[in-house]
Amino acid sequence: MIIGASRGIGLGLVEVHLDDGWGVHATTRDGNLPRQHPELTTHRLEVRDHDQLTTLVDQLDQPLDRIIHNAGIMRGPRAEIMEVNTEAPIRIVEALLTAGRLTPGGAVAIMTSQAGARRGRSGSLGDYGDSKAALNDEFRRRSDHWRELGAIAVVIHPGWVRTDMGGRGASLSIEESCQGVKTVLDRLIPEDHGKFLTWDGRIHPW
Ligand SMILES: NC(=O)c1ccc[n+]([C@@H]2O[C@H](COP(=O)([O-])OP(=O)(O)OC[C@H]3O[C@@H](n4cnc5c(N)ncnc54)[C@H](OP(=O)(O)O)[C@@H]3O)[C@@H](O)[C@H]2O)c1
Repeated sequence: MIIGASRGIGLGLVEVHLDDGWGVHATTRDGNLPRQHPELTTHRLEVRDHDQLTTLVDQLDQPLDRIIHNAGIMRGPRAEIMEVNTEAPIRIVEALLTAGRLTPGGAVAIMTSQAGARRGRSGSLGDYGDSKAALNDEFRRRSDHWRELGAIAVVIHPGWVRTDMGGRGASLSIEESCQGVKTVLDRLIPEDHGKFLTWDGRIHPW
């Protein structure tokens, strides 16, 4: 399941999983996706909407092998950035795990950013960096609980990627980043649980 799949990295993650033969559940704000495929199911989810989350959890009739929370924003009021980047991913993953929607031993990945690393932070990414740092902190607080719920969970920095958010001058194409993220997730082992990883499989300092 890819949460926040309308464009950019989220849509790229849908593509790389479909290409590899996966069945994919994708969520977008309006429930539509500019892509159709027999193995693709789309759902409506504004990540801040609690009722839509409840509906989504209830709708799933088979366990997921992998949950990727991708949705994120860089600009806007600070409160909204915190809601979307920090609170929503934790709440959504927690809801799916407690409802038993992940196959035991399945992977959970939340898109974070190197801008959320407290060590060596430039400080130039303001509210966005703060929101990802708070996400990383909350992830670490929950990770023992999520392990008990059967997940191998990580936070991932996808690299600097040419999307609406990353801009045209970014170093990676969407496909390069998404192939990298998928390979990292394909190779996850239980010992990786709780780590901050990069799109190319390195450990990122907190
Ligand atoms: N690009 C980079 O260089 C880079 C670097 C580090 C980390 N990241 C992280 O990677 C993730 C994806 O980034 P991106 O570059 O692909 O960004 P993007 O091109 O701006 O796309 C953001 C995605 O998040 C969705 N989204 C935002 N707010 C939402 C909400 N309230 N409810 C549901 N969906 C929502 C958007 O949906 P709509 O189309 O409906 O707006 C869109 O699908 C983000 O978490 C970002 O922080 C990106």
